[in-house]
Amino acid sequence: MESPTKHSRQMFSSKCGNNEKSCVLGIETSCDDTAAAVMVDGTLKSSIISSQPDHVLFGGVVPELASRAHDRLLVPVVESALREAGVSIHDLTGIAVTRGPGLIGSLMVGVSFAKALAAGLGIPLVGVHHLDGHVDSLLLGDTHPEPPTLILVVSGGHTQLMHVDESGTRTLLGKTRDDAAGEAFDKVAAILGLDYPGGPVIDRLAAHGDPSFHAFPRTRLSGYDWSFSGIKTSVLYHLNSMDESVRATYLEEHLEDLCASFQEAIVDMLTAPVARAMKETGTHSVGLVGGVSANSRLRARMGHTTDLLGGHLYVPDLLFSMDNAAMIALSGSLKLARGEQDSLSMTAHPSLSMDLHEAGQ
Ligand code: KG4
Ligand code: ZN
Repeated sequence: MESPTKHSRQMFSSKCGNNEKSCVLGIETSCDDTAAAVMVDGTLKSSIISSQPDHVLFGGVVPELASRAHDRLLVPVVESALREAGVSIHDLTGIAVTRGPGLIGSLMVGVSFAKALAAGLGIPLVGVHHLDGHVDSLLLGDTHPEPPTLILVVSGGHTQLMHVDESGTRTLLGKTRDDAAGEAFDKVAAILGLDYPGGPVIDRLAAHGDPSFHAFPRTRLSGYDWSFSGIKTSVLYHLNSMDESVRATYLEEHLEDLCASFQEAIVDMLTAPVARAMKETGTHSVGLVGGVSANSRLRARMGHTTDLLGGHLYVPDLLFSMDNAAMIALSGSLKLARGEQDSLSMTAHPSLSMDLHEAGQ
């Protein structure tokens, strides 16, 4: 697996120079966002995301509905991405698609489409690991971390901290043992009667609340691992300890305070191990990626913590925090520029693992 340094734009540009114009279509359908993007010679030309509102009614992603929506939306989304980029389908020199992890039905729509398009146009196909896409989203900004660096991936499906050394070797320092951080936001939002996805809603409400209103537990595990299932249960028990009528008034009066208190606990739990890893590994640069990296309090607190320790925090533009195809087009472009490609027998992989060393090995 390549490090951010190996993925640097500079190297990318030199590989794609010499009249070998690169025009890569990125496709992302791993969950409930149908997305396509076009990258020409390392420059992002378009990024289209169609979110699926149907899931709000069910309080979470319904896999069957997600696959059907991708099936319906993917062609128009790709057409929009090509149109906005000002390129024709025949200008494409490669197709990059999220291969996994994710919902199998959703992934299969994107992967099957990408394979058919690559076969029809006779151009290379490359599968991208969804989390590599998130890590590479840092390269879509003006500045990005150089190894050695720590990267914290916080999304709806994953929470993991890795260290990237000077040679580009990535070591997994810690991960969640149960729920992902984004999953905790979504589940607690459901308990509080808020819409899905819960993260942005809680973030918005928390801005007007008191983070010290209620002390939800900060679960600490050995090493750098996390557990977020306890805090969700704690919110549930806290509300269930009241009579129904009292609870309704309490929620009405203190919804913003509860959101702020819950969010503060999650932010504490995410920030403390990163600070410890900075000290223990002597690493000063930190990248924060994945949907939860859009959280305003997490960005502020993590930025403050890294500053205090004499380091620097890198976060993607908000547009590229959540699932998008720009990060897939970029990851895929880099792989293609290195001569990597997949065969048309490539399949979607719902639990695709990342190429990481385990700490201590
Ligand atoms: O990376 P992402 O778009 O999809 C996955 O790969 O899972 O992350 C989605 C997750 C959801 O759980 C969503 O609630 C969370 O990111 N999220 C947030 C915020 N925006 C999105 N969580 C906290 N605060 C936010 N502002
Ligand atoms: Zn994601």
